[in-house]
Amino acid sequence: MADHEVICWDCGANVEDPFVNTCPKCGGLLTVKMDLEPVKEMRPQDLRRDISGVWRYAPFMPVDPSRKVSIQEGGTPLYRTDRLAGELGISEVHVKFEGLNPTGSFKDRGMTIGVSHAKELGVKVVGCASTGNTSASLAAYAAKADLKCAVFLPSGKVAAGKLAQALFYGAKVLSVDGNFDDALDLARKMADEKKLYLLNSINPYRPEGQKSVLFEIMDQLEYDVPDRIILPVGNAANIWAVYKAIQELKEVGWIDKVPMLTGIQAEGSAPVAKAFCSGKRDFVPEENPETIATAIRIGNPVSGRKALHAIYDTGGFSIAVTDEEIIEAQQLIGRKEGICVEPASAASAAGLKKLISTGVADRDERVVCICTGNGLKDPETIIKNSPSPIQCGNSVTDAERILYG
Ligand code: F0G
Repeated sequence: MADHEVICWDCGANVEDPFVNTCPKCGGLLTVKMDLEPVKEMRPQDLRRDISGVWRYAPFMPVDPSRKVSIQEGGTPLYRTDRLAGELGISEVHVKFEGLNPTGSFKDRGMTIGVSHAKELGVKVVGCASTGNTSASLAAYAAKADLKCAVFLPSGKVAAGKLAQALFYGAKVLSVDGNFDDALDLARKMADEKKLYLLNSINPYRPEGQKSVLFEIMDQLEYDVPDRIILPVGNAANIWAVYKAIQELKEVGWIDKVPMLTGIQAEGSAPVAKAFCSGKRDFVPEENPETIATAIRIGNPVSGRKALHAIYDTGGFSIAVTDEEIIEAQQLIGRKEGICVEPASAASAAGLKKLISTGVADRDERVVCICTGNGLKDPETIIKNSPSPIQCGNSVTDAERILYG
């Protein structure tokens, strides 16, 4: 485990109490400051002795790997997607497919670190609010770690596969009146009253695990830094985690160039994109967030200010895409590349298309789209937007008529 301390991102104060989620002095957001001196003695190849996955990057992680709670998360493919690139009219696009994590989303990267840390602290009950994927992931890791788990979900707004996962792994599933932001308020109150240990991404250990997606992308590209990395933004911690990983690789001298971090939101749930488009460093919460991409149906992103910092500091960009653009991109990724991503994840490719057509992105850029979750999480949306199955009599004549008719 690397030496580290938890500090306030806003005022820099040291935060000793491991059970607070904001700075006791100023109320600011927390972050982990890693001591990376030992890594400066290493080369990227040294890490390749361990199998691909989050724990390959243990020297960048604030948890002792000998006490890890792991279901072999990370190690996901980075596909070079030339047919998608051709369709978008850009020279080089890669898709990092996070849907192949143990519970089908990138959340497992943060959860292995978060739950391992919870075990180190000796907590017995963990919890989170979620639009679905975080709850599925926490429920699985809590099962593995033998912890009691409560998940707070916005009533009626969680995709079927994600709800099934949380129930299946044995979590207590609380369906809360209101949206994700309301569910998070309740989960935070429970944590403040010490009734559970909160594993939302406001917990600074979660983004530490999520940094590994960037480490892996760099490893897979032989540290040839891409021009741009695009990802969907909801509660806004993942883009911050990717940014933090970039800073750490720069600090240890493994990269000297920075990709433009580009955060895509869904229209109707786009406080970060709106703030960016008006040049602001803080955002105005969206009262009634709406989008078909329920994973990112969030109006008051906890890490919104961190996300904006990440975007500005890397010369990146942020825009919103419509539900129609999201579904179109989801189908494009499936039908050109054979990759099934959920709607929120398709926002990255939808955003890329928009950036190219508006001239923000150059056609000769090397781009990585992070596709954060598996399409099978939300079969209802796929079925609703696909042609119906064709009724067929049990004969070659009938089948042939349908196929060639
Ligand atoms: N993509 C997917 C598939 C997600 O589930 C989420 C967030 C995001 C993107 C956005 O990541 O919040 O770090 O900006 N899902 C959370 C959840 C909110 O509860 O599962 P972010």
